[in-house]
Amino acid sequence: MSTLDHYAVFGQPINHSKSPRIHTLFAEQTQQLLTYNAQEVSAESFDLSIDTFFNQGGKGLNCTVPLKELAWQRADTLSERAQFSKAVNTIVLQKDGTLLGDNTDGLGLVVDLTKNHGISLLKSRILILGAGGASRGIIGPLMEQSPKHIVIANRTKEKAMTLSNEFAQLGDITGCGYDDIKDCQFDLILNATSASLTGQLPPLADTLLAEKGYCYDLAYGNEPTAFVKWGLAHNAKKSMDGLGMLVEQAAEAFYIWRGVRPETEQIINLLNSERAL
Ligand code: ATR
Repeated sequence: MSTLDHYAVFGQPINHSKSPRIHTLFAEQTQQLLTYNAQEVSAESFDLSIDTFFNQGGKGLNCTVPLKELAWQRADTLSERAQFSKAVNTIVLQKDGTLLGDNTDGLGLVVDLTKNHGISLLKSRILILGAGGASRGIIGPLMEQSPKHIVIANRTKEKAMTLSNEFAQLGDITGCGYDDIKDCQFDLILNATSASLTGQLPPLADTLLAEKGYCYDLAYGNEPTAFVKWGLAHNAKKSMDGLGMLVEQAAEAFYIWRGVRPETEQIINLLNSERAL
């Protein structure tokens, strides 16, 4: 019998995932005995892959695109934040053999913004671009920081309005199209569209970012994303990508699985030093 506990990330595509590297660094840092692999899993093979993984002794899983909604459906029980976000990025094998679904993405974003970048969200005017799964996961944790309001703008306006209605009980959240915000200003603009992946940008008015405002792209890459560049070109106080969020959501998953919280700063610094930003 191996003494190592097994963890993995499922997704498609998965070959560029940084999660195995991050969790291996966490394990070394905290002296935890575990392995963490990336596994290419399609939506069609998700159920079978999850059965096989846990039947073979797996202890916990991360799920990424396009599996977060399926993981939400599959989990036997859900944390409150996962329930709300309708997406699961972390699965935990419970003592009784059932699977608990959690979502650490939103917390990862908030920790990166507030702790790593020192940005207070209190009373801030926040704009979220996009109304898909990525947006859904961050609204609850952002609202916990007591911003003035959150506006969700989306290419398909109806999707933004449906999403904002779902979260309306949390506070001042509005859904709209890009045209509706062309005369508004925001202290923080978060890009949660998948446009970055293809180097595209939603149609953003030049006056959208308030003076000393911040831009944050949930996506990341070795080069600055199109949205990070937009922020720099529009005098953002800081224009950031989602590498810190990636490390912070991983740290929270690691803590849930192992009961030990890794230090993230040195790992973010290491990953940053390895890319050409
Ligand atoms: P995810 O789960 O990663 O959020 P998704 O559910 O497919 O992915 O949502 C992608 C989001 O990016 C949507 O809000 C989409 O807008 P639509 O709802 O109008 O499709 C947005 N998006 C994708 N490409 C875009 C582009 N080129 N310009 C603007 N928005 C874009």
